[in-house]
Amino acid sequence: MNNIEPTNLAKIEGLLFISGDEGITLGDLSKITGFMKPAILGLLQRLKTRYENDPNSALVLLNSGDTYRLATKHELSPVIKHYFEVPLTIPLTRALLEVLAIVAYRQPITRLEIDDIRGVQSSGSLQKLMVRGLLDTHGRLDAPGRPFLYVTTDSFLDYFGLSSLKELPPLAKQEDLDLDDMNGDLFLEALQARQKQQEEEMERLQKVMAEAGVASRRASEKLIANGHVQVNGKTVTEMGIKVGDHDEVVVDGVPLHREAHVYYLLNKPRAVITSAHDDKGRRTVVDILKEEGVEERVYPVGRLDYDTTGILLLTNDGELANRLMHPKFEVEKTYIAKVRGIINNNDLKQLRIGVEVNGRLTKKAKSRLIETDHKKQTSLVKLTIHEGRYHQVKLMFDAIHHPVIKLHRETYGPLDLHGLQYGEFRELKQDEVKLLKKISK
Ligand code: URA
Repeated sequence: MNNIEPTNLAKIEGLLFISGDEGITLGDLSKITGFMKPAILGLLQRLKTRYENDPNSALVLLNSGDTYRLATKHELSPVIKHYFEVPLTIPLTRALLEVLAIVAYRQPITRLEIDDIRGVQSSGSLQKLMVRGLLDTHGRLDAPGRPFLYVTTDSFLDYFGLSSLKELPPLAKQEDLDLDDMNGDLFLEALQARQKQQEEEMERLQKVMAEAGVASRRASEKLIANGHVQVNGKTVTEMGIKVGDHDEVVVDGVPLHREAHVYYLLNKPRAVITSAHDDKGRRTVVDILKEEGVEERVYPVGRLDYDTTGILLLTNDGELANRLMHPKFEVEKTYIAKVRGIINNNDLKQLRIGVEVNGRLTKKAKSRLIETDHKKQTSLVKLTIHEGRYHQVKLMFDAIHHPVIKLHRETYGPLDLHGLQYGEFRELKQDEVKLLKKISK
């Protein structure tokens, strides 16, 4: 079968097919096939009649001036309409993503250039991507056949969570590649990298709602299920939807106020309460930040006693805060305790292997004597624990009969105070946030 030379009619039909919606001119048909124009006109007429007379054919041959293209018969429009009515169900297959990636990085670009890079025909994929609203045409190239130029749309940016094309990840190979050296994988991999990055940045809708203070996660799920929530203008009722920074979430007509996550490290002074507000009107750690102009609704991660000083993390990233406080992750914390009495090796050992606190043994810890003051009968001890039980350090020293006089927290996980004076705070650096996320995964 494969050895049979295509008929002249088949050649013309093939060229019409791959020219897609743009069509092809009589001149180009002649240039490509080497046939004289009158011969081509004859073949076109034969094709036209064949389509018209065959009820099993879906096609018609249309022309505008000397540009010819194939289209579907008018009678098929109800079926075709359904195809266009279900754009959102068109999955982004590997082929579609590859075409999309090529357009994203090389736009404005013609179909033939895309075909060249991929080595296969792309008109079907282009059509589907246009139906999905991710691509559009933007004028025509001033060249024979005046082919359409394809570009990405704003929906493309929204879909990939980008504010501009400049935010696309760089291509793996930046050398001066000419078109012949390129293949779709180069572009596909870069766009997939963005997809992965975005997947990591996206958060579940109910979590975003809970963090914005709409309702608890469970209550937010109910709001979604009952059709109260819109994402980018569309009501969503199914669970599991994820949204990024660029998605607009509206609950009962009210846009969600979403704050970017912020992370602060405070050197907590004495006589300040670790909470967001205090019924007795005492100064809180959040007041300290507010007094200096921090406007986000931050909360302390864990707590330090009223009279304890030292490192304290404050954030509006509820998810990270919960994880850091979860016993499963056991973030390491180092305290310097000034205690009554002279600490001996046995005391240090007891602290290390575990003492009974509220009927339960504490977990393994590290302890080291820093100094003793025999005149005042006090000791300075460094204690590193992984738990975060209420009054844990004070209760541990009580258990060995050396009550705490003064307590200071020096480190929290990978973080230390880094020269912050009491009452001073700073924003965490990006890599510090990353580290916290990593240790609590
Ligand atoms: N353990 C305590 O007893 N107090 C603190 O403030 C922190 C840990």
